[in-house]
Order: sequence, then structure tokens, then C-alpha cells
Amino acid sequence: MRSHHTHSSFSLSFIFFMFLFFNIFSFSTPKLEPVNPGPVGSYHKRKQPVSAILVFGDSTVDPGNNNYIETAFKCNFPPYGLDFKNSIPTGRFCNGRLVTDFVGSYIGVKEFVPAYLDPNLGINDLMSGVSFASAGSGFDPLTPTIGNVIDIPTQLEHFREYKRKLESKIGKQNMEKHIKEAIFCVSAGTNDFVINYFLVPIRRKSFTIEAYQQFVTYNLKQLIQDLWHEGARIITVAGLPPIGCLPIVITVFSGEPLTNRRCIDRFSTVAINYNFYLQKELDLMQKSLAHLGSKIFYLDVYNPLYEIILDPRKFGFEEVSRGCCGIGYLEASVLCNPKSYLCSNTSAYVFFDSIHPSEKTYFILFKALRPIIDSFLGSF
Ligand SMILES: *[C@@H]1O[C@H](CO)[C@@H](O)[C@H](O)[C@H]1NC(C)=O
Repeated sequence: MRSHHTHSSFSLSFIFFMFLFFNIFSFSTPKLEPVNPGPVGSYHKRKQPVSAILVFGDSTVDPGNNNYIETAFKCNFPPYGLDFKNSIPTGRFCNGRLVTDFVGSYIGVKEFVPAYLDPNLGINDLMSGVSFASAGSGFDPLTPTIGNVIDIPTQLEHFREYKRKLESKIGKQNMEKHIKEAIFCVSAGTNDFVINYFLVPIRRKSFTIEAYQQFVTYNLKQLIQDLWHEGARIITVAGLPPIGCLPIVITVFSGEPLTNRRCIDRFSTVAINYNFYLQKELDLMQKSLAHLGSKIFYLDVYNPLYEIILDPRKFGFEEVSRGCCGIGYLEASVLCNPKSYLCSNTSAYVFFDSIHPSEKTYFILFKALRPIIDSFLGSF
């Protein structure tokens, strides 16, 4: 009990520390280019075109919506974006592209999925897809309030506004067809468990971990229902990563963060159980909606990432238990900033900051997910 309490206070101070640094850095988002485009490939054999990629969730898929809101959970400053041409920080919590950027590129809609709140987007940028995601968000309504970020109902409200914008350009029927042919990506949950459940004591007091896993899944299912009612038909849902292996989780919860930086299994087990339950629920949803033309896919992030963490050298990595930015134990968002020490080679690091994978890791994850993307692109 006692040590738990210490961890919580420590972590809460960390969060408040980030609030103090609120909005110090601010950069605009000029045109993006990857330094090294990489062999993303493209899918040519599909029977039906994909119109757009539309994204909901947290920092794993937020390309910079938080640049436009008042929150401490930002990263639109160096060294984020380090491996873009001219090292442009975009608001992506990464040195480069996210999995959704690789997916957009692969399905041939766009190279970079932009943030919906970017005021410079034209109608063509909107048409081919945007992300409504917000770093720090989660499915539990309490989670986004911790960092004052965009909650899921507001992301949905932005999506409805997006549909109205399209409708005014191409008409209702074309807009509805466009939405029907779009790929939806939903990725969140880590903040619900790591920040909300394990750091902030409120939810832990009223939910067992099993009850919380069900509560998060219930909220996620609600989002999918709502997307469905808004016309979404192809919906992909990412599970949780091995949260016990995130450098920040090791630092905060290992009890001996300097000497023992192994994954903490009891946290990863929470992710495994949640993923199992989520998959079962998604299967049930898919079965009940299949006759109406829906395709709901679970995306396994856990196993590909865990494979990298178990044997980093096999994938060309050298460091796995700390991020590239700073010492790599705690630094993320404002704690990872232009003054931070930086590793000399981002490709050698599984994690770019203490929470978020590097571009190279995201690319490997994308490759692991590619067969599922192929399967639904061919399945019309
Ligand atoms: C960076 O690290 C990767 C992976 O370990 C390695 O293949 C590459 O040669 C390194 N690049 C430099 C410039 O050291």
C-alpha cells in the first residue's frame, strides 16, 4: 500500500510538472516530407477503392490535434519530428511517421494523415482522410480530463462536422458513399490503464481491474456503435501494447528503476487480458453487424511489439528499456524538449520517448498489420 502511494504522488507531480510547462513551445506545421520514404509498398490488387483514412484515439495516432488546444500534452517542438526532412515537429509523438501514416500511404490515399484541427487543410486534404485523435485521450471519460485533451464524444462531434463539410462540397449521397468506403482506425486505451487506472487513484477505488477492463471495452464499443450509425463500415481497432514494457512504466513501478529495467509482467498481463476480452467483444459485434456490411477488425499490437522487445537485435535495435530522448526513463511531451540530451541514432531505439515507439518500431508494427489490411481490402 505504502509504496503504491509513493508511486502515485510521484506520478501526479510528474503530471502537474507538465502542466507548469504548458504551452511554452509553439511551432507551425509546414509541408512534411520523410527523410527516408522507406518501402511502404502499395496495395494494387484491391477490388474496391478506399476513399479515405479516418482516425480516432490517442497519441499513437494523433498527428498534432493537440497543437490547437490548451493542454500540456503537446510535442510540437524538437526533438519530435527529428527524422522528417528539416526535422519538422508536427505534434506527432514520434521522431517520424505513425502507423496510420504508413497505412494511408499503403492504401494509396495520402502520405501523411493530417490533424483535423489544422486550419490549413483544404477540401482535398479532408476528403482523403484526417485524424481526430488527441494525445492523452482514452475511452474512459475521466482519462481525457486529466490532460484536458479531446475526449471521444468531441472527436465524434468533429467527425460529424467533417461530414457536413464534405456534404456541402459533394452532396449528401456522395458523402455517404465516401464514408462507407473509408477505413476507420481506432487506437487508444494505454492512457486509461497506465495514467488513469494505475497512477490516479480515483478509478482504482471503485473498479477492480477486471471491472475496469470491461468498462473501457464498453466505452470503446459505444464509439464503434456511434461510428457505425454515422456510416462507418470498415473499422479497425488496435488492442493494447505490452504496457509493462513502456520505459515510463518501468521507471515508475519497478521499485528499482535504475538497476532493474525489465518489463513488469503484471502490467502486461492486464493488457493481455483486456485484449482477449476486447477481441471477443469485437467478434460478437462483427457477427451481429456482418449482414449489414460491416467489417470490424481487431489489430494486434501486443505481439509484434513484444517480439521486438524480447529480441531487439533481431530487428536491428540496440536499446529497448529507455527512450531516445533524454535519459529515456521519464521524458515525454514537455519533458522531452529542445534542451534534452538525444541519442545519436534513433533507429537503434525501440522507443523514441519514454512512452512512444520510434518511427522504425511503428514501421515494423505496420508491416505486421499489413496482412489484415490486405485481407479487408480484398474482401469486398
Ligand atoms: C543506427 O542503428 C541501426 C540499428 O542498430 C544501424 O543499422 C545503423 O547502421 C546505425 N546508423 C548509424 C549512422 O550509426
